[in-house]
Amino acid sequence: MNNKVNFTIDDKECTSTSDKYIVEAARENGVYIPTLCNYDGVKPAGSCRVCTVKVNKRYLTACTTPIAEGMEIEVNTTDLQDFRNAVVELLFTEGNHFCPACEKSGNCELQALAYKFQIMAPRFPFQFNERYIDASNPKIYHDHNRCILCKRCIRVVKDDKGKSVFAFENRARQIRINFDSKLGEVLTDELAEKAMEVCPVGSILVKGKGFKDPIGTRKFDHTPIDKIVIPEKQNI
Ligand code: SF4
Ligand code: FES
Repeated sequence: MNNKVNFTIDDKECTSTSDKYIVEAARENGVYIPTLCNYDGVKPAGSCRVCTVKVNKRYLTACTTPIAEGMEIEVNTTDLQDFRNAVVELLFTEGNHFCPACEKSGNCELQALAYKFQIMAPRFPFQFNERYIDASNPKIYHDHNRCILCKRCIRVVKDDKGKSVFAFENRARQIRINFDSKLGEVLTDELAEKAMEVCPVGSILVKGKGFKDPIGTRKFDHTPIDKIVIPEKQNI
């Protein structure tokens, strides 16, 4: 049974139901919590840590923590904002993100968060890791330079028997996303589009789709990411 729950976010009195995660309960109450690996309707992975908040003084990820009665949640404190900035800066320095030349520019959630957080230059040194672009699939490119290992593609892109088309291979610093070789070969147009849409960055791109939406007309070109998730009139 889903019970009504009362809680606070940055001292604001809020209500929701016990079947929600903190990130959803916050959204219902007009509070934006940044996310990156999270994808609505899909079991959370808790892999990026961008959604970190404090619950009763403890650091927790808002996308994986169910809301509960009496929680005192902090979202917009200076230390949490700095922590989130650091996560985004680390992602920029660990991968090779050349935004001006990326087809996902304007539709990219990592770029949109960097704009929202007003990140000008990362505090960490760039790693310039050697990555490659896999163009072997007839339908999609997979650019490992941009992959942030969020697992969205693994969790969302599945064949009609529920088998994931994408999977992790290797471990630690060698970990990367790869296709299931058989499923990759028979990827439908719909699944290829879905993979491109679900990837928060420009790591998965459908071949032959360049500039379908011209730069300047894309999702985040005019509207910041928080105002898309929560329209301005509701935002506190
Ligand atoms: S390819 Fe895209 S969706 Fe898949 S793990 Fe990498 S960044 Fe995430
Ligand atoms: S959005 Fe919660 S850990 Fe990534």
